[in-house]
Amino acid sequence: MRYKRLGNSSLEVSVVGLGTWAIGGDFWGKVDDERSIATIQRAIDCGINLIDTAPAYGNGHAERVVGEAIKGRRDKVVIATKCGIVKEGGRVTRNLKPESIRKEVEASLTRLGVDVIDLYQIHWPDNSTPLEDTLNELVKQRDAGKIKYIGVSNFDRKLMEEATSIAEIVSLQPQYSLLEREIEKDVLPFCREKGIGILAYGSLGAGVLTGKFKERPKFADDDRRENFYPFFHEPLWSKAMELVEVLRQIAVEVDKPVAHVALNWLTQQDGVTSALVGAKTPEQAEQNAASADWELTQDQLDTIESAYKRIYG
Ligand SMILES: NC(=O)c1ccc[n+]([C@@H]2O[C@H](COP(=O)([O-])OP(=O)(O)OC[C@H]3O[C@@H](n4cnc5c(N)ncnc54)[C@H](OP(=O)(O)O)[C@@H]3O)[C@@H](O)[C@H]2O)c1
Repeated sequence: MRYKRLGNSSLEVSVVGLGTWAIGGDFWGKVDDERSIATIQRAIDCGINLIDTAPAYGNGHAERVVGEAIKGRRDKVVIATKCGIVKEGGRVTRNLKPESIRKEVEASLTRLGVDVIDLYQIHWPDNSTPLEDTLNELVKQRDAGKIKYIGVSNFDRKLMEEATSIAEIVSLQPQYSLLEREIEKDVLPFCREKGIGILAYGSLGAGVLTGKFKERPKFADDDRRENFYPFFHEPLWSKAMELVEVLRQIAVEVDKPVAHVALNWLTQQDGVTSALVGAKTPEQAEQNAASADWELTQDQLDTIESAYKRIYG
């Protein structure tokens, strides 16, 4: 495993992190908690120390499962969770008001069974709350020792500029993979310049970049990943399949899984600290962690880049 410092923080995180959205059990089809715990523990055994979760994943369920899995292993992990997506009166809404954050921090600490959260991230922007109010509250939580560092997610460049003028932000969590490169336009250069860490999500394109889908998958009704990730629909699906073929050729050449090629492309991008990958089984976690044992050559990176330009224009 390779490790990098997260932005200007003192946290050293693995270049492959474990994402726990699916483990929440309410969006990615059925999951078994015992297997989820085994997945988290296998990930830790393989050198993954960064675990990303959120109260929004299964309405607290993912955090509880993470809490179970890290019992006795707290010193081996960096826990990243989030705030701002809350269930109110049966509806899920964005709420970054200070009083809501105070409740959320306490609830996350309890569910995770920890006395401090290493990285506390704003999950999505909330236009109805001044960012200054939110960040001032997060600074209070940091000063009170409940959280160590503040991060944000799904912020564009303008919001990043505003946020960093108010408080110290150590990381941004955007969607970033070979299937979604929007951040390269302006927010990634901004983060590079300011030394803000990038925790990429959707690193495997919700499974597409493993090369396992030979045709457009029909997911079970309770697996709603295609509602979140647009490349399961045309015209993006066919382009994704074309790109996966290029990754597959490299994978064959180096005798590694296709997923490794996609993850190494990501972790070798300048500015990326860690690729968050949502594993559902111990085997997936182990395979994803092993991608950090080797790197793509410049020739291989160039081949991917020219294929990307040809396919996506
Ligand atoms: N901040 C945000 O707004 C936001 C949004 C999305 C995600 N995230 C975070 O980022 C994490 C990663 O993103 P993601 O989970 O959405 O997508 P992802 O990591 O691209 O894809 C995860 C899915 O790919 C499949 N998979 C993983 N490893 C595999 C392997 N080695 N072989 C075959 N299939 C494999 C699994 O599903 P199947 O086995 O069922 O195919 C898994 O659930 C999340 O878990 C979450 O922590 C944050």
